[in-house]
Amino acid sequence: MRAVVLDAYGGPEHLAVADVAEPAAPQADAVLIRVAAAAVNPVDLQTRAGLHAGHSLLQPPMILGWDVAGSVVAVGDDVTAVGVGDHVVAMSAQMATGRGTYAETVALPADITSPAPTSVPLTTAAGLPLAGLTAQQALDALDLPEGATVLVTGAAGSVGGLAVQLARLRGLRVVAQIRRTADAQEALALGAHEVVVGAPEPAAGTLGADGLLETAGLPQAIGTVRDGGRVVSIVPTRRPVEERGITVTVSHVEQDGERLAELSALVDRGELRLRTAKEYGFDEAAEAHRALAGGGVRGKLLLVP
Ligand SMILES: NC(=O)c1ccc[n+]([C@@H]2O[C@H](COP(=O)([O-])OP(=O)(O)OC[C@H]3O[C@@H](n4cnc5c(N)ncnc54)[C@H](OP(=O)(O)O)[C@@H]3O)[C@@H](O)[C@H]2O)c1
Repeated sequence: MRAVVLDAYGGPEHLAVADVAEPAAPQADAVLIRVAAAAVNPVDLQTRAGLHAGHSLLQPPMILGWDVAGSVVAVGDDVTAVGVGDHVVAMSAQMATGRGTYAETVALPADITSPAPTSVPLTTAAGLPLAGLTAQQALDALDLPEGATVLVTGAAGSVGGLAVQLARLRGLRVVAQIRRTADAQEALALGAHEVVVGAPEPAAGTLGADGLLETAGLPQAIGTVRDGGRVVSIVPTRRPVEERGITVTVSHVEQDGERLAELSALVDRGELRLRTAKEYGFDEAAEAHRALAGGGVRGKLLLVP
């Protein structure tokens, strides 16, 4: 089968299409998925550059990619919840497991898959798993009561854009922080009650947010949180320093098919909107990595076999 293989740590030029062995028949608890699309995420760029080499199960040559949407082509003997022909999505923790999704076929444990939303093209659905689970699990960690105010930084981004929508659905008052005025309309359309443009550096506590969901690597945004509030960051390298009785936690996304199914259902109920920026062929993977690194991307970049 064809796959996008990283031949050595480094720049995007180290990504190339290669012929690799098909995964074997799935193990008892696993399914084989014919990939419709794999989304490109910041973690793929970081892994490619070698930033996670110390805690990566595999070293190059390896297949990158965490997000997948596709059709099930085989199931293991113990799998009952998923059948051949089903359309599924999944987030594969590639770094920990070595199971990359930039391939024509991928074998994954059945319990990390979920039915794909049926109301959007299957390729579009590939943009849901990693960003959606990250946003949902980070909001769980923040654990704010209904009516509380949350500031979401990087609200125009993949995780931020879904977090704004999910926070609104939880009954939170959502303040969306964005870099460019041009993104304000979109942030409001996603459900933000209020938009802050530019780096949030108010004097300590003036915005009075109860919580901060930090996705943009802006540790100073803790300044917007009230004394005793809560911060959840998804950018471990730029974790805010605790101050004024505010708790700071880093959330690391985890594989979870059940949670993903809830997100998929929200998409089908029209309550969660997925945004696709562009589809690339596997042979354009390097270009997709360069585009994401360049910033300003709105919606997911997808790799289509
Ligand atoms: N801990 C975890 O489990 C986990 C999971 C997923 C992602 N992450 C990390 O979370 C971060 C976001 O991921 P993502 O997929 O959402 O990436 P993304 O789609 O690239 O979004 C990042 C957003 O942050 C914005 N941004 C950057 N600097 C900003 C600033 N000063 N003010 C406002 N916005 C700013 C970017 O705007 P521009 O496009 O204009 O630059 C972009 O919209 C990445 O660092 C990723 O590695 C962690």
